[in-house]
Amino acid sequence: MDFASYLESRISLVDQAIERWLPASTEYPAILIDAMRYSLFAKGKRIRPILLLATAEAVCGEWQPFLPAACAIEMIHTYSLIHDDLPGMDNDDLRRGIPTNHKVFGEGHAILAGDALLTEAFYVLASADIPRTEAVKLQLVRELAQAAGWQGMIRGQTADLLNEGNQASAEMVHFIHRNKTGALLRGAVRMGAILGLAAPNQLDALTAYASQIGLAFQIVDDILDVEGETHVMGKTAGSDQAADKSTFVSLYGIQASKDQAQQLVAEAQQKLQQAGLLDASRLIELANFIVRRVW
Ligand code: IPE
Ligand code: IPE
Ligand code: MG
Ligand code: MG
Ligand code: MG
Repeated sequence: MDFASYLESRISLVDQAIERWLPASTEYPAILIDAMRYSLFAKGKRIRPILLLATAEAVCGEWQPFLPAACAIEMIHTYSLIHDDLPGMDNDDLRRGIPTNHKVFGEGHAILAGDALLTEAFYVLASADIPRTEAVKLQLVRELAQAAGWQGMIRGQTADLLNEGNQASAEMVHFIHRNKTGALLRGAVRMGAILGLAAPNQLDALTAYASQIGLAFQIVDDILDVEGETHVMGKTAGSDQAADKSTFVSLYGIQASKDQAQQLVAEAQQKLQQAGLLDASRLIELANFIVRRVW
């Protein structure tokens, strides 16, 4: 199967799995369920769940039983987007091609829909019938909490806010990017590896791969904010400059940022050679997709 068809088919299976785990629209209060569904089913790339599934498959050959874990990570990611767009954070009006959650449901309900998705992710992970031991499931919960919380995404988001309006140092921009975005991508790969019952050396190699593509992903996001088109990305171009964010582009300029993203992806792909995988080809393609994407 070519890579484009592969992505398309995984996206549709992830979407079906999310649908199975979400409350029905008939539950009370409708506005909460509607707000959760609104952002989840807006068109996203589903890169984190796909990475999780691809990693598990690369390690053990299986991926379908792990769909609930893939849903959990997409719920966390979607919640992070809802909150990231709030007036108190990036104050954006467009996300995934449609008005942001708070524009439609109001700030209070957007905050609560995000809260609900964050907690639902852990409910799914703890309740799903995943064919792995309780110890493995506990490890997954720990990975996800670490990636999403203060040791990961949230401290990155906090540092991002703290460094609006001034050009942060290179060290600080790396910290922001590795945490606000890198941590969850890394968590996705590590969860996939844990589900695949990776040996410690495999987990290390896959973690190194994930760290590099995680940083590259946010560098490309910064580049797209300058070079991308609003209607293709489904979010407003130029929003970083408008908010005076500290980004790779504001630090290094466009060309040097592109070179670094490319270099990180090459390093990531090299790490895979030490991972002893059944088949590394999808993980190689996903790394390429991260630098070549236009949305
Ligand atoms: C956007 O993530 C926010 C970042 C962490 C850079 P994605 O680019 O994966 O957004 P969706 O899920 O495709 O909408
Ligand atoms: C967001 O980074 C990282 C998150 C944790 C959501 P950005 O603020 O650059 O993401 P976009 O550009 O709004 O998608
Ligand atoms: Mg932000
Ligand atoms: Mg933002
Ligand atoms: Mg951005």
